[in-house]
Amino acid sequence: MVGSFKLLRLPLILFGNGQFKRLPEHIGPQRQNLLLLTGSTSYRQIREWDEVFSKLQSHGHTLHIGQIGHEPSPDDIDSLTAIYRNAAIDSVIAIGGGSVMDAGKAISAMLVTEGPVTDYLEGVGKYKHPGTKVFFTAIPTTSGTGSETTANAVLSITGANGFKRSLRHENLVPDLALVDPALTLSCPPSITAAGGMDAFTQLVESYLSTKSNDYTDALAVEGITHIHKSLLRAFTNGNDMEARAGMSYAAMLSGITLSNAGLGLVHGFASSLGGFFNIPHGLIGGTLMGTVNRYNVNALLQQSDQGPFHHKYARLGEMFSGIQQKSASWYMQFAADYFDQLTAQLNIGRLGEYGVTEADLERIALHTDHKANPVQFGTADLVDMLKTRL
Ligand SMILES: [Fe+2]
Repeated sequence: MVGSFKLLRLPLILFGNGQFKRLPEHIGPQRQNLLLLTGSTSYRQIREWDEVFSKLQSHGHTLHIGQIGHEPSPDDIDSLTAIYRNAAIDSVIAIGGGSVMDAGKAISAMLVTEGPVTDYLEGVGKYKHPGTKVFFTAIPTTSGTGSETTANAVLSITGANGFKRSLRHENLVPDLALVDPALTLSCPPSITAAGGMDAFTQLVESYLSTKSNDYTDALAVEGITHIHKSLLRAFTNGNDMEARAGMSYAAMLSGITLSNAGLGLVHGFASSLGGFFNIPHGLIGGTLMGTVNRYNVNALLQQSDQGPFHHKYARLGEMFSGIQQKSASWYMQFAADYFDQLTAQLNIGRLGEYGVTEADLERIALHTDHKANPVQFGTADLVDMLKTRL
């Protein structure tokens, strides 16, 4: 029987090659004053950029251009918001990776809300954000976080007292998501790998989440199927349009599944580690995916009864192996092997390269939450997992 679930609202999603060119018609004449947020100057490499930019200008839009070149901090949001707060911005358009889309999402929410953004951050601020914002468009140029379909913006401060926290309200989901896979063609292999592993982790973790439901499971399996077919191909040959489209689609789905089903231990680590150390989010997900899933599988195999998580891991192993008629435990082990193998094939870096040492591991473990993970682990296990990726 299909269980009950709640589905959060979605943006108007326009998916497919060439959708970027339709930006002017979807912004519409009623939104004249636009804040375009980008990551760096790389957006100028987008082939259709000049055409879209000229069309917006010829339609009488005023374009303000803001930039954010790293994972956004609360100060970044406050200073960008302060610049444009009195500029009567009608729409924020974020074109870039997850950091740019999260920054745009937060700015669109803070342009019409008083105070520093920290006041509204989950677990930090004293208020819940009211959900008011200016019209927000997300245009991903990488395949990773799925921020184009989520209702939260992750902000971080790194260091000893660092944190990664979300500004969240279901109204903050973008109004419009223009997902044009052709925009990801210039994404370099290292970002294709890390972002792709982030999307993969998000899909796998929401599939295995204790809060998953029939709807999120269907989307997660669809996304995982596309990652399995596309990630290595997009990494090896960035011009493989079919693989790029598969990755854009999977990343977009991962945003929907994570918003509705939650995430597991890999993202628990991403939150604690990402606060203490300046490590790209995608790299944390990619480097820890194999080891966390190995621990999950081993713990599940020690249980006497087979439950839904055994079945789900086995289904993944069957998909990845393409081999029929093996036992559930064989498929579960195959899934764990597959994650490890992919991490190696994609040359995903290790935590030690970013300054993490053995002395840091207990502190990281103690700050790691993994409530929705299919298995609950003690601090010693968490430390052991981290140790495998130092
Ligand atoms: Fe993620």
